[in-house]
Amino acid sequence: MSKVLKNALVLEKDFSLKKHTLYIENDRIADFAMGEVEDLDGMLIMPGLVNTHTHAAMTLFRGIAEDVDLNEWLFKYIFPREDKLTEKDIYIGSLVGFMEMVKNGITTFVDMYFYEDAIAQAAKDIGIRGIVARGLADTDGKGEKKLLLAEEFIKKHKDDLLVKGGFGPHALYTCSTDYFKEIIDVSKNYDLPITFHLLESPDERDNFKREVGIEPVEFLDSIGAFGKNTIIAHGTHLNDDELRLISKRGSTLSYNPTSNAKLGNGIAPIKKAVEVGVNVTLGTDSAASNNSLDIFSEMKFGPLLQRAKFHDPKILKLEEIFKMGTSNARKVLPFDVGTLESGMLADLIVVDIGNVSMVPKENMLANIVYAFDTASIKRVMIGGKWVYDGEFLTVDGKKVIEDFEKAYSDLNASL
Ligand code: NI
Repeated sequence: MSKVLKNALVLEKDFSLKKHTLYIENDRIADFAMGEVEDLDGMLIMPGLVNTHTHAAMTLFRGIAEDVDLNEWLFKYIFPREDKLTEKDIYIGSLVGFMEMVKNGITTFVDMYFYEDAIAQAAKDIGIRGIVARGLADTDGKGEKKLLLAEEFIKKHKDDLLVKGGFGPHALYTCSTDYFKEIIDVSKNYDLPITFHLLESPDERDNFKREVGIEPVEFLDSIGAFGKNTIIAHGTHLNDDELRLISKRGSTLSYNPTSNAKLGNGIAPIKKAVEVGVNVTLGTDSAASNNSLDIFSEMKFGPLLQRAKFHDPKILKLEEIFKMGTSNARKVLPFDVGTLESGMLADLIVVDIGNVSMVPKENMLANIVYAFDTASIKRVMIGGKWVYDGEFLTVDGKKVIEDFEKAYSDLNASL
């Protein structure tokens, strides 16, 4: 199970590029190993990217609701279709979502959806690492059952090195306050991520205040929702004081620039979040709102939006944005990912530096962040196993697409 990768340039933790041999022992990077030697001359090895907010199965909804606002998008197009989804649909939709992620260099994900066993199966079949956080909502009166399922799933995957469970209370507008509190209380029994959508759209704050009588963040803090295991998705409309509180509590904010912009929800306060020390990571959100699952494009669009908004080209420097796409996630995930050091998981991507987007080679980090062409990704390794080398080595990619197209037609015919 050992591998020796020779002659490639390796993107180190300090962002220097060194030509050195990378040793892999089982699923981790090692100081030395004896094993199959591969010559990767002309290639660059970098850590795989981390997508901290996604709903992989929603590839089945790609392109179905364009040019509409969040409410119409969610209530008219998404929710009626979600009602019809079968476990088989979730499996095939997730499979396609994970294939797209891997092809684009993502090796770790945080997913929030339902039919968690089907999502986990899809992840395992591809060989991608991730958190499957059971989506939780009690608008249908079935909140308790879902919470039990989440716990069951977590226990089942306790010793799983590739897929682990988590808690995904969907949002304040789909969970009652009592239910949200119960989820937080239960989540304290496990050292695993808890993730929810927060202040994604402009009217969420006022709606919550009108119904509950206090500020959303004040409520969440009162029930202990902000801890070191918390990943806040979006946070588009968080104010300065709220960001300071979140920083103090040690929670992580998943910045989803493309999804926020596409749905017209706004630009998240990432400049301020970074200034006050919030741990920021990147997310694609789903293929229904993005429409691609590509963290390289978020690494480019994320800083561009901040710079355009503040008329300041110095916001989010290259190193900072690269860490958002890779190592910052390690603070909140139970996986040693994000840098290529001895002892870390061997989750990496091999990039052809002869690709037009990678020359000249003078500032490789700038090429990676601002000029990257995912077609330059030649191979992807997760946990010491090659899963992609231009084709998928773990699943029959062509057959998956066929099955996906069939599931998509059947789903639409059922509406
Ligand atoms: Ni989302």
